[in-house]
Amino acid sequence: MQPRLIVLTNGYGSTIRNLIDKGMNIKMIASKSTRTLWIAEQHKIPFLISNDIDTIFQTANGIGIDYIILAGWTSLVPVPPNYRNRILNIHPALLPKYGGKGMYGINVHKAVIEAGEKISGCTVHVVDEIYDHGKIIAQKTIPVPESEPDSGLIVKALMLQDRVKEAERELYPQAILDYYQIG
Ligand code: GRF
Repeated sequence: MQPRLIVLTNGYGSTIRNLIDKGMNIKMIASKSTRTLWIAEQHKIPFLISNDIDTIFQTANGIGIDYIILAGWTSLVPVPPNYRNRILNIHPALLPKYGGKGMYGINVHKAVIEAGEKISGCTVHVVDEIYDHGKIIAQKTIPVPESEPDSGLIVKALMLQDRVKEAERELYPQAILDYYQIG
């Protein structure tokens, strides 16, 4: 049995595209980014053009879903009681390090490089009232890629982002399924 998902995304779309490719049961995509709405349309997945969280919760209640999945969603989600432990996020670093307000996208990878970390990775966690704070349900580590000594911070961070996204593509769908089956 596959969990029924509503996916909230305002990103570039690689996460939602991967969840679709992995055959996840996506009942709806909520977004305001044309790129991700276009992906929904291409795959004939119903979509809600909104990033208003109350509208999204109301819609989710109406269609009957198991989980709300964040896929490139940067605002804090106020978790109503009926969605406690039913909202999941993937973060592009090894939480509890490199999380919190403003820590998303390339900012995370820059911070990891600046700190001189040799290992990074990604974390799937339950969403609670604090940014990147809820219970960790899965993590995958990767070595920070070697880069030319004279390459700048942005290039190093982008290289790391590519490697982390590769790891995310395996981790996120599997973690959602495992969470549904074994909690
Ligand atoms: C992912 O890297 C994920 O870790 C984070 O947001 C990013 C979204 O990527 N939560 P994309 O916009 O789906 O390409």
